[in-house]
Amino acid sequence: MGKFEVLDHPLIQHKLTLIRDKNMGTKDFRETVNEISTLMAYEVSRDMPLEDVEIETPIIKTTRKQLTGKKVAVVPILRAGLGMVDGILDLIPAAKVGHIGMYRDETTLKPHEYFVKLPSDIDQRQLFVVDPMLATGGSAIMAIDALKKRGASSIKFVCLVAAPEGVKALQEAHPDIDIYTASLDDSLNEDGYIVPGLGDAGDRLFGTK
Ligand code: PRP
Ligand code: URA
Repeated sequence: MGKFEVLDHPLIQHKLTLIRDKNMGTKDFRETVNEISTLMAYEVSRDMPLEDVEIETPIIKTTRKQLTGKKVAVVPILRAGLGMVDGILDLIPAAKVGHIGMYRDETTLKPHEYFVKLPSDIDQRQLFVVDPMLATGGSAIMAIDALKKRGASSIKFVCLVAAPEGVKALQEAHPDIDIYTASLDDSLNEDGYIVPGLGDAGDRLFGTK
């Protein structure tokens, strides 16, 4: 089974509380989601492999560490996942970015895929699949199905708020992936919204509705 981690760094927790407030406007919401995403990327990349490399400082030759292993691609699930991309790229600027378009039917809560555009070498990359909300888990499961179908094998899923139902469904469908969230919330309501949650992440990021 992959990892399941709630990233409880105080700065992440503080900023998450700020964006839950229904009175926070679009500009501040967007900026704060970016800030949280940078902080989360720092934690999620903690296990990146290092190798020894010989260098010469102005003083002596020495052996030190540098990153090795797979290069990263960030894959936002549209639309709301877009809000997390820039924050992650602030920390990992050379990452490529793939996009998966997915919307949830408001009545059935079933996801529908409408767009997939990925770097050609996703099978060689460590993927960070990002979406602020993991509710029923349907969108994340379908997005990861689409990635695996195209050869992806190293996948971390990163969200801001998860419902227990979504975590369970995602772990059952894709037991090999690691899941990181800033919060494991209480439940889903009858409309499929996370409680307490933060509302509709896409609408709050883009000022729609
Ligand atoms: C939201 C959210 C996730 C999905 C989560 O997207 O950003 O993608 O719902 O719900 P699930 O776990 O039950 O599938 P939405 O369908 O509202 O699309 P949007 O991002 O375009 O607003
Ligand atoms: N999608 C959202 O944007 N918010 C929720 O609470 C659930 C799904």
